[in-house]
Amino acid sequence: MDNLTRKLKGSLPSTIFDILIEAGELCDRNGFKLFMVGGRVRDLFLGRAGMDIDLVVEGNALVLAEELAKLRGASFTPHHRFKTAALETEGYNLDIATARRESYPHPGALPVIELGSLDDDLKRRDFSINAMAVSLNNHDFGRLIDPLKGRLDLNHGLIRILHPGSFKDDATRIFRAVRYEQRFGFSMEAETMNALVRHKNYLASISPDRLRYEVECILNEKYPEKALKRAGSLSVLSHLHPSLQFSARKSSWFKQAREMFYPQRPPADLYLALACYGLRQSESSLLEKRLNLPGATSRILADAVALQQKIKELSDNCLESSEIYNRLINYDPVTVTACMIASDQPAAKKNMDCFLRILRYVKPALSGDDLKNLGVPHGPQIGQMLDRLKSARLDGHAVTRQDEANLVKNWLGKS
Ligand code: CTP
Repeated sequence: MDNLTRKLKGSLPSTIFDILIEAGELCDRNGFKLFMVGGRVRDLFLGRAGMDIDLVVEGNALVLAEELAKLRGASFTPHHRFKTAALETEGYNLDIATARRESYPHPGALPVIELGSLDDDLKRRDFSINAMAVSLNNHDFGRLIDPLKGRLDLNHGLIRILHPGSFKDDATRIFRAVRYEQRFGFSMEAETMNALVRHKNYLASISPDRLRYEVECILNEKYPEKALKRAGSLSVLSHLHPSLQFSARKSSWFKQAREMFYPQRPPADLYLALACYGLRQSESSLLEKRLNLPGATSRILADAVALQQKIKELSDNCLESSEIYNRLINYDPVTVTACMIASDQPAAKKNMDCFLRILRYVKPALSGDDLKNLGVPHGPQIGQMLDRLKSARLDGHAVTRQDEANLVKNWLGKS
């Protein structure tokens, strides 16, 4: 029998490990059974860390959350309807749920929930590797509970659904399957793959918000291009928009984006703009609707389409810096970055790169007040002169503050 105490202890800060022991003891006293479940158990075997811990109680999760929060001086958020609670402590998120059974009234619907046993709770899950539990009650702390053979599938590197209708009930699991497969370098088990192909049309039953969440999860992966490429080859990506494809070229753009932002992660919107590069305006708008994208993200995508059409104008090695600036300043830097990475025009790439690294930060040394002191009248002329000074700086006609003052005097003399 597997005892995972050592693995648990080794994978968690001692304070969090102690909280799990305390939670188990509180459950002992209340006559509840307590388990750690889901991705954290899977990751124990894979040696991966994470800050989310899912706990399932056979009993009442709200009672446990309240007592635990009191003991730890932490706060918790209860959800009375489903008897679940979220507790944040030491940077970890503890989700505590009362064991439940689920049924789907129709494909894509949110499940109907009834209280149940741990066994029910494991059976309702997406894949065998996510359906293991570890007991946390004192008398059998660390015991693995694995009725659906998740451990074996982990060893064999397989993503396996738990019943043939799983993707039909909840087609978001199709994206999840692809994500886990690519994250861990696993394969889809044969029946799971058949079900995926058979049921991928049920993605149409998924609401925009749920679909967007899945896309966000993919974009938050370390290497999102792997899952996107796989989703493309399984004709799953086309359910977001029929023209959406993911080529090897796009994969290389993702890599470039990572290199540019290293050691930080590129923004998810940049990945999305790169994934959508090449879509037309009408296609991009449809995708925005299908995913109910937030306004800022929609603008980045729409602007990327518009900027692609202006790449030719930027493909000129002789453009003055102020011209580059004026052509790009009204686009979000994420849009410009996407077009710079994806464009195959060397001069345009160079100009966009220069804009992103240098030009967009250029400002005149003189302020509006300085201009007033130099005799520029109040009103719109101040703003216009500041713009002219900025252009002069960009194009190297003014380098020092004094150069700028001389220019202003000159312009005033002429007007
Ligand atoms: N789950 C499910 N079906 C879904 C979503 C989630 O069965 N459509 C279950 C899985 O058992 C999963 C658990 O809920 O393990 C928690 O979901 P989530 O937090 O999304 O995933 P993790 O397993 O924690 O994995 P990760 O965050 O590493 O992707």
